[in-house]
Amino acid sequence: MGLKHITIASLATLGAVSALGTNQKPLVDNAQPQPQISGDSSSARPLVNSEDLQATISTEALLKRAKRLFKIARLSEDEYNHPTRVIGSEGHRGTLSYIHSTLAALSDYYTLSTQEFPAVSGAVFEYRLLIDLALAESAHPMGLTPPTHHKQPVDGSLVLVSNDGCRASDYPSTVKGNIALIQRGTCPFGTKSEHAGKAGAVAAVVFNYEDGPVGGTLGTPLDDHVATFGLSGTEAAPFVARLKAGETVEASAYMDAEVKTIQTSNIIAQTRAGDPDNCVMLGGHSDSVSEGPGINDDGSGSLTLLEVATQLTNFSVHNCVRFAWWAGEEEGLLGSDYYVDVLPAEENVKIRLFMDYDMLASPNFAYQVYDARNEVNPVGSQELRDLYVAWYVEHGLNYTFIPFDGRSDYDGFIKNGIPGGGIATGAEGIKTKEEVVLFGGEDGVPYDVCYHAICDTVNNLNLTAWELNTKLVAHSVATFARSLEGFPERTLDDASIKAAGAYAKGAKYHGSKLFI
Ligand SMILES: *[C@@H]1O[C@H](CO)[C@@H](O)[C@H](O)[C@H]1NC(C)=O
Ligand SMILES: *[C@@H]1O[C@H](CO)[C@@H](O)[C@H](O)[C@H]1NC(C)=O
Ligand SMILES: *[C@@H]1O[C@H](CO)[C@@H](O)[C@H](O)[C@H]1NC(C)=O
Ligand SMILES: [Zn+2]
Repeated sequence: MGLKHITIASLATLGAVSALGTNQKPLVDNAQPQPQISGDSSSARPLVNSEDLQATISTEALLKRAKRLFKIARLSEDEYNHPTRVIGSEGHRGTLSYIHSTLAALSDYYTLSTQEFPAVSGAVFEYRLLIDLALAESAHPMGLTPPTHHKQPVDGSLVLVSNDGCRASDYPSTVKGNIALIQRGTCPFGTKSEHAGKAGAVAAVVFNYEDGPVGGTLGTPLDDHVATFGLSGTEAAPFVARLKAGETVEASAYMDAEVKTIQTSNIIAQTRAGDPDNCVMLGGHSDSVSEGPGINDDGSGSLTLLEVATQLTNFSVHNCVRFAWWAGEEEGLLGSDYYVDVLPAEENVKIRLFMDYDMLASPNFAYQVYDARNEVNPVGSQELRDLYVAWYVEHGLNYTFIPFDGRSDYDGFIKNGIPGGGIATGAEGIKTKEEVVLFGGEDGVPYDVCYHAICDTVNNLNLTAWELNTKLVAHSVATFARSLEGFPERTLDDASIKAAGAYAKGAKYHGSKLFI
């Protein structure tokens, strides 16, 4: 699950912040899985059914995998001083090899492929913004920011930019050699940084239109980007007032940062059996943020997929099942976006639906179902939503709808006409009193206090929620692997294209980062 309000990299953190490099072709092994209908032993297996597949799910098996994953996250300790599975780290490479080797052992049942893709990775080593000789406490570097000139402090006057700084004409000539102060809103942070750079600014500061701090990402790096900070509305207000009154405010900006392109991989496993023209697809993300080991986010979803994939091998399927472990989710849905971007149209229509499983075991959980609706999402999304609802109801459990707003890997799918949905148990949001009545737990506390933090360890998992949701994942797989009867057909007609467009307009996020 991506961030709602990002805070990037404290001084010592080698935070990796990335965006997808454009126009790059996969370097290796990028083929879609080559589906084969196997005439062998699979016919001896019973056809999958929900109850039997659910019955194979146990807390013990999940917990064992979680402990293994934490050990793998510790492989990054040399480089990061703490466990993490961020892309490019030993912990992430270890995660990929764990997933890959587990599936390779099931190679009579699955066709396995890895899809390598380039990810722009940014690291901020140190930063500082001084205004009027005082440290701006709420200043945070934007993701993928370039360094200041020669990675040294640069001095200048703050120059208030007109409007929202979305047009070149908003930047007065006095910006040249100085530090642009730009209000958040209307256009992406990356556009503001670009305009500031073109106008000759030595750094840019985007201040919030709300009281709180503002963080996000510049997105795809551009040559004209300058070192860019976010600043809280509260902290910016007195300086904005002074500049409007015609006073001069001096500032000094320092950013020691680096942006580079690294290669990372998605892993895809598809059943050899089952109709290859009608695939049920599901995914979780293999990576974590740099701040912690990510055992709930998204170790839980990734391991749920691995366990369900393992248990499925004792059954036969009518429809093909395709599992995906995405990389670079935390940097902005890089892996899933890449996958859908390079998917030819004739392959796109074979994916009947995509189910996203990101954070299934939050300690102060709610049973959340993405509120996917056919009016604004590809037709079939609502049927999927209702499958989850029916399961919770049947088990005497409560559920709550959450916005389907682009915060996880379903985003690329629904933007490309593929029905999608999923379940989650909550990230940094605060549990309400009403939700405590529905789910137990504590009100006024985040669903996951260890969201994107060092304490997202094995102890952060609620095993009750995890086992239950893994059974629901098994139910979703078994149901659609067995039959897609009555589930809306895929067509690339006007209706589904329009639906995708309507969604895109309403979406607030693209994965981890606010970009606007
Ligand atoms: C499949 O079923 C067999 C026989 O019941 C069992 O021994 C085996 O552990 C099962 N496989 C998996 C992956 O659970
Ligand atoms: C579901 O919510 C109701 C309140 O609407 C509550 O009384 C009940 O205990 C909840 N069920 C569970 C299983 O928590
Ligand atoms: C998980 O949640 C259940 C239900 O709220 C609670 O009874 C249990 O103590 C929790 N377990 C852990 C390990 O936090
Ligand atoms: Zn996640």
